[in-house]
Amino acid sequence: MDRFIIDGGRRLRGSVRVSGSKNAALPILIATLLTDEPCRVDNVPTRLRDIKTTVRLLESLGKKVAVKGSSVRVASGGSLKTQAPYDLVKQMRASVLAAGPLLARFGLVRVPIPGGCAIGLRPIDIHLKAFAALGAREVADGGDIILSAPSLLKAGRVRLDFPSVGATENAMMAAAATPGTSVIENAAREPEIADLGRFLERLGARVSGLGSSRVRVRGASALKGCRHIVIPDRIEAGTFLLAGAATGGEIDLKGAHADDLSAVILKLRAAGAEIKPYTGGIRLVMRRRPKAVSVTTLPYPGFPTDLQAPWMSLMCLARGASRVRETVFENRFLHAAELARMGAQIRARGNEARVAGVERLSGAWVMASDIRAGAALVVAALAAGGRTVVQRVYHIDRGYERLEAKLRRLGARVTRTNA
Ligand code: UD1
Repeated sequence: MDRFIIDGGRRLRGSVRVSGSKNAALPILIATLLTDEPCRVDNVPTRLRDIKTTVRLLESLGKKVAVKGSSVRVASGGSLKTQAPYDLVKQMRASVLAAGPLLARFGLVRVPIPGGCAIGLRPIDIHLKAFAALGAREVADGGDIILSAPSLLKAGRVRLDFPSVGATENAMMAAAATPGTSVIENAAREPEIADLGRFLERLGARVSGLGSSRVRVRGASALKGCRHIVIPDRIEAGTFLLAGAATGGEIDLKGAHADDLSAVILKLRAAGAEIKPYTGGIRLVMRRRPKAVSVTTLPYPGFPTDLQAPWMSLMCLARGASRVRETVFENRFLHAAELARMGAQIRARGNEARVAGVERLSGAWVMASDIRAGAALVVAALAAGGRTVVQRVYHIDRGYERLEAKLRRLGARVTRTNA
């Protein structure tokens, strides 16, 4: 299993390009199941493990997929299957997104229930309620859910109990292949959802209200192929901003969209970072030790749960004490105990952590437990004195493309080993 060896304590300096968004590319690639015509999706972070899993998922369902650089071409490979394989769903929960397109097109789909993961239970009840609102019936069978709508789904009103990102995407995709207008209320507003909406429009659906909590989709029984360019990854960009801030660095993030990171930029400025968005990127300069700033994670446009862990790393080094409240996932403080091994002062109880900043963290052997916890350990390691060994890098590889190469461009000392 790969490890990162990081010799910390160096200011990050220089410029780096942000990759395409993993969380936008995943549903968009899965949405190619909505058409038999060829699609080309560009700016896809194809080196990520989750994208490779998505390609395998599409192939296992009957698509032909060709990956070249950051471009993915998806074409029909004959008739589609309506059963998602368990070994892929258990590796990547987002595989559940195949349910919406397949159910809408064929009136039948069988998906394994994903089960929990390190950051929480993560049920799919909101997805299932959305399908039910469009006329689907569900039966549980041997760890799978079978969804059926013998005379296909009917356009309708879907009200989500919580603005779940995945459930919004599943409902939008199902609605896109269902003639008539469906309305999704209490929809998630993440930029990745707006990108999926734009993709569905290119396929021939009509989508309005993107970025709001009420999305309308006018679907069609036959959708066409298209070409689409995925938006930049705001979570990767945010992670680099935090690494820059934690190391007192000066970095230029090419391709990053400041508008998608408003909540994070606001908090970073409060912590003392100078941030200058410009057309085509974001510059950050951090000249002092960070000030303590509390955050509460919320659905977009609130502070993203996916940056909670790396934010905590920054706060470990702050002057003063802060609180980090996690309201989106129930068990997302696994990084706190690892950060403590590096000298951090964190008291986590329930969904709240109190962080007392220390002047210096020191290198240690630590272990990544999920993508973002892994990113948090890397941020802390870059700022810490001495050597940190981050184990279980495969978690980080799910969500960050060529992380060590990009960090090295910024002057960090990071190597990957397989010892
Ligand atoms: C997506 C992102 C993930 C991010 C999360 C929240 C992708 C591939 N992943 O995950 O990086 O952390 O949004 O911004 O885009 N929930 C239910 N029932 C459901 C669905 C969700 O209870 O049917 C709960 C979840 O357990 C969680 C919360 O709702 O506590 C948010 O989940 P959701 O917004 O659905 O996240 P994902 O789409 O899984």
